[in-house]
Amino acid sequence: MPAIDFNSLRQQFPLLKERTYLASHTLGPLPQKAALDIEAYTKSLYLGKRALSIWLERYEQMFPLIETLLNAPTGSVAITASATAAQAAIAAAIQPNVKRNRIIVTDLDFSSCRYLWKSQVQRGFDLIEVVAADGMQISSADIIAKIDDRVAVVAVSLVSYLNSARLDIQPIIEAAHAAGAIVVLDAYQAMGVIPIDVTSLGADVVVGGTNKWLCGGVGLGFAYVEPSLAEQLDPVYPGWFAHLQPMAFAETFTPATGARRFQQGTPSIEPIYTSRAGIQFAIDTGVEQIHQRNIELTTYLIECADLYNIPILTPRSPHQRGGTVLLGVEQAATVVEKLAALGIDVDTRSSLGIRVSPHPCNTKQECQHLIENIVNIALRTKLG
Ligand SMILES: Cc1ncc(COP(=O)(O)O)c(C=O)c1O
Repeated sequence: MPAIDFNSLRQQFPLLKERTYLASHTLGPLPQKAALDIEAYTKSLYLGKRALSIWLERYEQMFPLIETLLNAPTGSVAITASATAAQAAIAAAIQPNVKRNRIIVTDLDFSSCRYLWKSQVQRGFDLIEVVAADGMQISSADIIAKIDDRVAVVAVSLVSYLNSARLDIQPIIEAAHAAGAIVVLDAYQAMGVIPIDVTSLGADVVVGGTNKWLCGGVGLGFAYVEPSLAEQLDPVYPGWFAHLQPMAFAETFTPATGARRFQQGTPSIEPIYTSRAGIQFAIDTGVEQIHQRNIELTTYLIECADLYNIPILTPRSPHQRGGTVLLGVEQAATVVEKLAALGIDVDTRSSLGIRVSPHPCNTKQECQHLIENIVNIALRTKLG
């Protein structure tokens, strides 16, 4: 693998020049190139109906881009308004029956997904929530122990948004398939930082979106749906962008082939423009290369934190974590605010600690700078 000069690539990200920005898990820094796309979109807005064909062309270009990112076959990706919307379209198309009515989730999944899957109880499903026994990581064995022929769906996050714990997903997929269940994998926190090859993974549905490690701004979710599964599921609340021939405005709904049948009405066009450069950056740089760089930076970050005995609330093994490190810092919200005033951007969720996510173009010096400032703030807070 040729070495990548991340220092030169850094020039493509204006935010990285202005701030010590370590928050790719929430909003990845937008590449400079996106500004040109956004400008093109703004200009197109003044074209009125003449913009429609231009927008549709750009929209169509987005599918092969996402398919390339995921190594997904042509036609196996749907574009949605959010990752939750993508999962909702799949959930609605799966009916519970007396023999198979269970859904498995975990307590480390993203809140939005948990709301969605828990709400399926209203439709006759039973929910099983697997909890992280050590509070940090879900063991695949704990999930597999719950999988039997009563399970319809295993709906779990590959990488937890809370502490970046990463599931050992392959054995879970195998166990689910052996029991006749499907796996809906929320890989949002992995997109653009951990290589996802949906074909070799064998998951049934993989969802993600653009605003985190893909550095593409908000408003665009997507779902890979395994082609034969897509054909078996009938959409329950489709729209014209799910039709085989949207422009035919036919009387009856004929589902599109493949994943597009899970789409709905007119898509948002602005995120189609905003997100292209970030996805292209991930493809051009190589997600495997980005992953290796992330491991280098997060390992260094952990070493720096260890020097000051800052608890690490993310699994230490690079194979068991995503791109983020959760630092066990007390009064995290206050510390995050003070760091922001010093030009350092990180964040906190549920007062668990501070989430730190190095973009591949961040540096070791920036990781060290963050830790030193956390220590200084903590000392000042104690003394004060
Ligand atoms: C693991 C995970 N899934 C999903 C999402 C976002 O879902 P949605 O696009 O529905 O807002 C997030 C955002 O924080 C996330 O961390």
